[in-house]
Amino acid sequence: MRVFSGIRPTGELHIGNYLGAIKQWIELQKNNECIFCIVDLHAITTPFDPAKLQKNIFEVATAYLAVGLDPEKCIFFIQSQIKEHSELAWLLGTITPLGELQRMTQFKEKAKKHPEYINAGLLNYPLLMAADILLYQTDLVPVGKDQQQHVELTREIARHFNGKFGKVFKEPKVILPKVGEKIMSLQNPKKKMSKTDGDLRGCIDLFDTPEEIQKKIMSAVTDTGKAIIYDPQKKPGISNLLTIYSLFSGKTIKELEKKFKNRGYAELKKSLAVILINSLEPFRRKKKELSFREVYVKEILKKGRGRAETVAQSTMQEVRKRMGLQQ
Ligand code: AMP
Ligand code: TRP
Repeated sequence: MRVFSGIRPTGELHIGNYLGAIKQWIELQKNNECIFCIVDLHAITTPFDPAKLQKNIFEVATAYLAVGLDPEKCIFFIQSQIKEHSELAWLLGTITPLGELQRMTQFKEKAKKHPEYINAGLLNYPLLMAADILLYQTDLVPVGKDQQQHVELTREIARHFNGKFGKVFKEPKVILPKVGEKIMSLQNPKKKMSKTDGDLRGCIDLFDTPEEIQKKIMSAVTDTGKAIIYDPQKKPGISNLLTIYSLFSGKTIKELEKKFKNRGYAELKKSLAVILINSLEPFRRKKKELSFREVYVKEILKKGRGRAETVAQSTMQEVRKRMGLQQ
């Protein structure tokens, strides 16, 4: 199967990205043809600093490698280096009803969050994402829950295009993790964990120091009452901590409820901090090693670009032909 996914280079990766998306990628790379993209053109739809963007692109590439994506097994590249992404996004825009883009939850949320920055790129974001996916004849798109709607729209766009111009695109399927499709903020467990959110204490970066992890976990917002039980409606804070604990420790939530029965929130948090510090330590070490190997990382991105470009160009040629554009 061909697998495609992407991450915006908007700062450090956090455990939500890891549990919602990257952990699945690491599994999938074993038996599939995987392509992972650093989507810088998506990152510029919200306020950004050009100098920081450059740095973040390199950061995301090293982060991918540090957490276990293997350049021998998958292709990594930077979206803006392959111009077919923007080209196809434009063409897909001409067959997509405006209303489909306006009804996207992410557009509505981001427009609300940045009322001074509602640019057309933000509205067209799902077209570029559809182009990313469709250029590579993708079968599977592993993402977190928040991106499901965009992948569904991509399927519709593919179907629409194929119906109008003849079959060119595969209809991709979304894959969500069974648990961890939406990790919540530690400070506001009703909102998803996000690096672009105001309160940084709500978000654990994959490369946080042990002290930072300890501090963030111990100050995580909990719920009224004392019982440690999984109930996302009534106990969103504790349920989120249990989910994170379960995913990093391999223990089921039931086992954890039993382990922490009659023990307080502080004990759960202390124990979770230890689990997280130990689980993330190898990532931090590897990332540090890689930070001195810029040439190596750049070489991987260059190779990835070459391999991805061949596929993208071949799909684009077919698209242009079908749409009656000049070759
Ligand atoms: P982003 O950082 O928004 O580019 O997201 C990259 C990937 O991580 C996407 O597949 C998202 O669905 C996933 N993701 C982001 N935040 C979370 C979260 N809090 N919980 C689960 N998955 C997430
Ligand atoms: N929009 C995705 C996000 O914010 C990132 C992304 C861009 C993506 N292109 C993609 C994910 C293609 C999967 C496939 O998380």
